[in-house]
Amino acid sequence: MNWQNEHTKRIEEAESIIKSWLPEEKGYQKKVMEAMNYSILAGGKRIRPVLMLETYRIFGGKGRAIEPFLAAIEMIHTYSLVHDDLPAMDNDEYRRGRKTTHVVYGEGMAILAGDGLLNLAFETAVNAFMLEPDNPYIGKALQILAAKAGIYGMIGGQTADIEAEGMSRDEVTEELLLFIHEHKTAALIQAAMMIGAVLAGADETKVKTVEKIAYNIGIAFQIQDDILDVTSSLEALGKAAGSDEKNAKVTYVTLKGLEQAAKDVENLSREAIDLLETLSSECEWLKQMINYLITREK
Ligand code: IPE
Ligand code: IPE
Ligand code: MG
Ligand code: MG
Ligand code: MG
Repeated sequence: MNWQNEHTKRIEEAESIIKSWLPEEKGYQKKVMEAMNYSILAGGKRIRPVLMLETYRIFGGKGRAIEPFLAAIEMIHTYSLVHDDLPAMDNDEYRRGRKTTHVVYGEGMAILAGDGLLNLAFETAVNAFMLEPDNPYIGKALQILAAKAGIYGMIGGQTADIEAEGMSRDEVTEELLLFIHEHKTAALIQAAMMIGAVLAGADETKVKTVEKIAYNIGIAFQIQDDILDVTSSLEALGKAAGSDEKNAKVTYVTLKGLEQAAKDVENLSREAIDLLETLSSECEWLKQMINYLITREK
């Protein structure tokens, strides 16, 4: 089986697990459930759940405790997008090939749908205790999920991202930009891969190496996102290109130029692959996944 077919199969597997934890649209709160399902079922590349599952398998994971975490990471990621697109933040009208949640359901409902997804992520993840009562690593996995999504993780990065809007080129140093990329984007990718490793029972040293690999993947992923914002289109991306320029953001591309940005994506990814090879001899699929992320066009 070639990599692309296998990739499609893994996305389908992740999606069927995610769907099984989504709310049934009923009751007086039906509207918020519709808005939540609208945003999470719109598709997307599902790279976080796929990376989580693959890391879990590399470390020999075979149980079901991973399943609610797989749904939880995609819920948190989707909530971050719903809020990121709001007029008060990036003010974008398209996401995953559809109108954004606030355009369809209104701003109030989009805020609540984001809140709902964030909360549902934890309501869902705690089910791991029921699925595998004897797995001693579930508390640690929950701690990683909570920390990487919060003010020391994704929310912290989004905060610095908003504050940097409109700052001049000189004010946004490389250090600040890397802080933003690490937190707003790498943090959830780190959570995904670290939770996969932890739930499978990987030791602390290995989890640290996974954190570094996911840091590189995450920074490279956001640089590529910044590149595509300049070079791609709404049709190809499913979200508007030119969003960063519209919001006067200093990005990796404005800071370093397109050519250097592309080189750095490659270097970071190569280093991630080298580190991965020190961890496992069964990482061929994951290596190809990293290569796909370098060359992705959406
Ligand atoms: C978009 O993430 C936000 C960033 C962190 C760059 P993705 O590019 O993973 O979005 P989807 O899930 O495929 O829509
Ligand atoms: C957002 O970064 C990262 C999030 C935590 C949502 P961007 O603002 O660059 O993501 P896109 O380009 O809107 O997907
Ligand atoms: Mg943003
Ligand atoms: Mg945005
Ligand atoms: Mg972007």
